[in-house]
Amino acid sequence: MPAPRQSQETLNLAPGPASLPLTTAQRSNLSPLTARGYMAWRSRSLTLLTGQAFPLRREAALFRALCRPRPGERWLDAGTSAGFYSGVLARAGCRVIAADLSAPMLAEGARREPHPGIDWLLTNLEASGLPDASFDGVTVGATLNETREPARLLAELARLTRPGGQLWLMYVCRTGGPLQRALGVPALGGLTFPDPAWVARRLPGWTRTDGLRVGVVAFERYVKGEGRS
Ligand SMILES: C[S@@+](CC[C@H](N)C(=O)[O-])C[C@H]1O[C@@H](n2cnc3c(N)ncnc32)[C@H](O)[C@@H]1O
Repeated sequence: MPAPRQSQETLNLAPGPASLPLTTAQRSNLSPLTARGYMAWRSRSLTLLTGQAFPLRREAALFRALCRPRPGERWLDAGTSAGFYSGVLARAGCRVIAADLSAPMLAEGARREPHPGIDWLLTNLEASGLPDASFDGVTVGATLNETREPARLLAELARLTRPGGQLWLMYVCRTGGPLQRALGVPALGGLTFPDPAWVARRLPGWTRTDGLRVGVVAFERYVKGEGRS
């Protein structure tokens, strides 16, 4: 894979992925207003969802402690939004493809994280068309909750990860409660709240090395195959 560059030409505007149907939640991210306000929500979201102090620096520290991203590694930040995980990875010396289906989100990410190690890519990651085994690691910060077909997204991310590579997942787990049922209705968001056992079944041949549950939020690290190479 060529060295990532932060440039317009790398935006993937191919009609295939762009023509996949989107959930209401995905479409809401296409608004520049949502993109501009996203980090205000994101910086408080885990504190609200877990019921304990969970600032972004705690999430970043947890990710770094478990995944130990190394300089020179190639990472995909899947559904980067405003670039939170991309920034953490770039500051660790990694080369990052920060991918999202929302151009306003990518613009906000590039504004917030103007790091030369990050390449911003417009694509639907349920069908990215990127080559097999392109990445040493993939971060998925809540994108599983929003994507239209989480099983398809996981299969695609598994394909894009090299053997021995790692997958970091943060997502809101299934509770079966009325609020989650309402948010799952297509017109009200079309969100998905996966069960960790369901996620594990979608990743055959992967090993879950770490799994932490804080309130309704799961943090999981998977390695493709037996362990880290
Ligand atoms: C909940 S936000 C994730 C935020 C970010 N990962 C973080 O940790 O701050 C979900 C993001 O994923 C994007 N997204 C949802 N489904 C996607 C897909 N299939 N392909 C690419 N991006 C997707 C949305 O546009 C949105 O910006």
